[in-house]
Amino acid sequence: MSIAIDLGQAIHALSDALDLVGVDEVCHGKRVGYMALQCGRGLGLSNPELEDLFHAGLLHDCGVSSTHLHRCLVSELDWEGSEFHCIKGSELLNQFPPLAHLASIVRYHHTHWEALRAAKLPEKTAQLANLLYLVDRVDALTAPHYERDLLLARHTVCDTVWRLSGSFFAPELVGLFLDLSDNEAFWLSLETRHLMRFIYEREREARLAPVSFPELRQLALLFARIVDAKSPFTMEHSLGTARLARFLAEQVELPVETCEKIEVAALLHDLGKLQVPDEILEKPGALTREERSMIQRHSFETYQILRGITGLEDITLWAAYHHETPDGRGYPFHRREAELTVEMRIIAVSDVFQALAQRRPYRKPLEPDEILELLRTLVQQNHLDGDLVELVGQDLPASWQAATGLSSPEGAPDQSAFPG
Ligand SMILES: [Fe+2]
Ligand SMILES: [Fe+2]
Ligand SMILES: [Fe+2]
Repeated sequence: MSIAIDLGQAIHALSDALDLVGVDEVCHGKRVGYMALQCGRGLGLSNPELEDLFHAGLLHDCGVSSTHLHRCLVSELDWEGSEFHCIKGSELLNQFPPLAHLASIVRYHHTHWEALRAAKLPEKTAQLANLLYLVDRVDALTAPHYERDLLLARHTVCDTVWRLSGSFFAPELVGLFLDLSDNEAFWLSLETRHLMRFIYEREREARLAPVSFPELRQLALLFARIVDAKSPFTMEHSLGTARLARFLAEQVELPVETCEKIEVAALLHDLGKLQVPDEILEKPGALTREERSMIQRHSFETYQILRGITGLEDITLWAAYHHETPDGRGYPFHRREAELTVEMRIIAVSDVFQALAQRRPYRKPLEPDEILELLRTLVQQNHLDGDLVELVGQDLPASWQAATGLSSPEGAPDQSAFPG
């Protein structure tokens, strides 16, 4: 059993998700991918090598889920602890075989050239990792100048790169970069409108290839782990929601293929949360209207990220509608009862259940019977599907176990969650 998707589009979608972490500082990964690609051409790499380098550029910061850490990435040249996100990112990529070959480049994308040489890595790995480092730092230095005084600021950026030749960066890569960037077009191509056009043109034609369901689940897990790593309050939320959604789908006796797809959609449902600043997710008190409106963007962002992947059309809607309610007062589309399929309702119920079973900044995790009571109240208010909530009630311990991954409420670790 397999599904046909375009892996390239999936990588672009993942880079869109990572872009959200930058909140206002978007497109960092895409600019790094773009510059690396131009330099890779200068190095005479083959087409498959260029494709890999571009993808490594798009995904190089997949170890960063926190908006706080992202601010360091784009505002500091070098900082203590920068290696942590490289290790994290390479571990994530290693868990998904079709992208595992990018892991070593990502692992060393903040390592100085002097240290890389001493590490005795394969020559190509060291070269490409250092190239990513160089263009990554170019983007950090240039970030304040896009759409403003870019063409003036580029000279200072190039001076800094020149000064770091031989210590941070390989001299031959510095030479190549300074050569290639010695024109206005190189820099102007980095501005968002032009960059997005470049990306759009690359992914316009879908190249569909069959992906097995276990592979699709692994890809979704890669996305989910990035979201769940965002804050201690989001740990395991996507994974638990997916386990419960799969359990309920099986209880309803949906076809096996649908069960697989529901699990994937649930893993992906909160991708848009990457855009919510850490301070809001971790706020110990009630949210202001403004903060609430930030949170309400997230399921629309999930929709926008996933809709670019040909082959995942229904999964996209099941994931994006997880805050829609039968009374039509959910968000962001205000769909009504008749438009909400059983797959969407399963994910909505699983999401609320999982969030209630976890700690929030302002309350403890709820006990299973408290959760059921609250879910029933939400059914009365026409916010959740009554039949599915009764199904949860028929085997409450099993639902709780699926949502938390724990065998009993007593064994619950001091774990945290955020509102679904
Ligand atoms: Fe980085
Ligand atoms: Fe959620
Ligand atoms: Fe959500």
